[in-house]
Amino acid sequence: MSKVTFFRGQQLPLEMHKVRIIQKLTLLPVEQRLEAIRAAGHNTFLLQNADVFLDMLTDSGVNAMSQEQQAAMFRADDAYAGSATYTRLYDKLVQVFGMEYFLPAHQGRAAENILGQVLVRPDTAVAMNYHFTTSKQHVVVHGAEVLELIHPDGLKVTSDHPFKGNMDTDALRAVIAERGAEGLSFVRMEAGTNLIGGQPFSLDNLTEVSQICHEHDIPLVLDASLLADNLYFMKIRDPRCVDLEIPAIVKAMADLCDIIYFSARKLGFGRGGGICIRDEAMYKRMRGFVPMFEGFLTYGGMSVREMEAITVGLDETLDFDMINQGPQFIAYMVNELDRRGVPVITPPGGLGAHVDAMRFLDHVDQRQYPAAALASAVFLASGVRGMERGTMSEARDINTGVEPLAHMELVRLALPRRVFTLSQVNYAIDRIDWLYQNRHLVGGMRWVEEPEILRFFYGRLEPIGDWTTRLVEQFRADFGDSL
Ligand code: F0G
Repeated sequence: MSKVTFFRGQQLPLEMHKVRIIQKLTLLPVEQRLEAIRAAGHNTFLLQNADVFLDMLTDSGVNAMSQEQQAAMFRADDAYAGSATYTRLYDKLVQVFGMEYFLPAHQGRAAENILGQVLVRPDTAVAMNYHFTTSKQHVVVHGAEVLELIHPDGLKVTSDHPFKGNMDTDALRAVIAERGAEGLSFVRMEAGTNLIGGQPFSLDNLTEVSQICHEHDIPLVLDASLLADNLYFMKIRDPRCVDLEIPAIVKAMADLCDIIYFSARKLGFGRGGGICIRDEAMYKRMRGFVPMFEGFLTYGGMSVREMEAITVGLDETLDFDMINQGPQFIAYMVNELDRRGVPVITPPGGLGAHVDAMRFLDHVDQRQYPAAALASAVFLASGVRGMERGTMSEARDINTGVEPLAHMELVRLALPRRVFTLSQVNYAIDRIDWLYQNRHLVGGMRWVEEPEILRFFYGRLEPIGDWTTRLVEQFRADFGDSL
């Protein structure tokens, strides 16, 4: 689709697929949306999907599958041990990444559990371009700390840096000089860096990180969950990659790493995960954790149907026409919001559009969770479910009770790939535009129930004051009897 130019010069994403199965949606009236978000403790994770119009919570496990994936699911070989399905998945992974060993897991964080158990030593650190919530938890739980060594532009909401997900390699060198190589359990590079707006790193950056790691004998671990988006940006922006085919880019990346793990809820458009490992001794150290936590070595908690879907999905990830739909839809949404003055992360990344709640609600104190407030307000205005990615997603220190304020206060509006049409995206843009014009009505939030572990998943909040009611009244006044 990137080769199609429109006669009038419009910049529109054009899908290279058609939709042949649909799911009917409902859009509740705004008063019922208010009841639904109240019942959910103003936490979008706790909404019933039946009350949601466009579910932009995540792309995890909810991307649309291809007909080839669905067809493959029918021929799955259901065996506890040694199924032909597993062999097909294993062979595909070896072909794609060129690593000899693989451990299956039921999803990405299960792979992180195994990496944490084997690699993380107490009182050390794990350096990352940026953390993901579950990846951090599996480091901290073993008594180590996470060092965020993101390139300085990575934390600037607006920037024109093409690779905001790059690691700051000077900072990595400085950490090694200060703590010694033994002070780092491993280095983790996250493709399509999730929490800072789906931002990619470049092949040069990964190369430099790899050189530094290997000079000091520190394992380099790639989180490839959002690899597809990172590959898209490498292919269009990275001078080292523009002339390479996608499989060659993947191989060049894999050759630089010791371990590659992934959530197959994202990579491969299925549900599952796993760890590819280069070194036999490392594989043997990790192997025992699979039967202990996941399942036998040839399924690791995944159903055979999902493994078949992932195998085909991995192949399709190597097809540029398949992986460019997501980032192009996201770019459209980000650019249209930006044009209307709505503060968003730029340049557009992968995963979804990320609205900057800090600027959107610059009158709401960061300790009153502006991103959580905005996620509720977006649902009220539109029935669109986004995800808070700010201070609510941080963890309060269990010893001191101190709550770290997030670097960024974002509402992520994920675009699961190939799921929404352009008119649905336009609807979301329209309602967020309205909300921005009425942003002064939106106030802060406070906890009603704050869990200790991963609190954002199931904690409950309430609005400070009656701003949700006033927002609903304004909606009615402006939109009449429209849903
Ligand atoms: N790594 C990254 C970069 C992720 O985005 C995720 C999940 C994981 C690891 C964990 O994988 O969910 O299969 O256990 N991200 C989801 C999201 C939850 O909504 O962004 P998992």
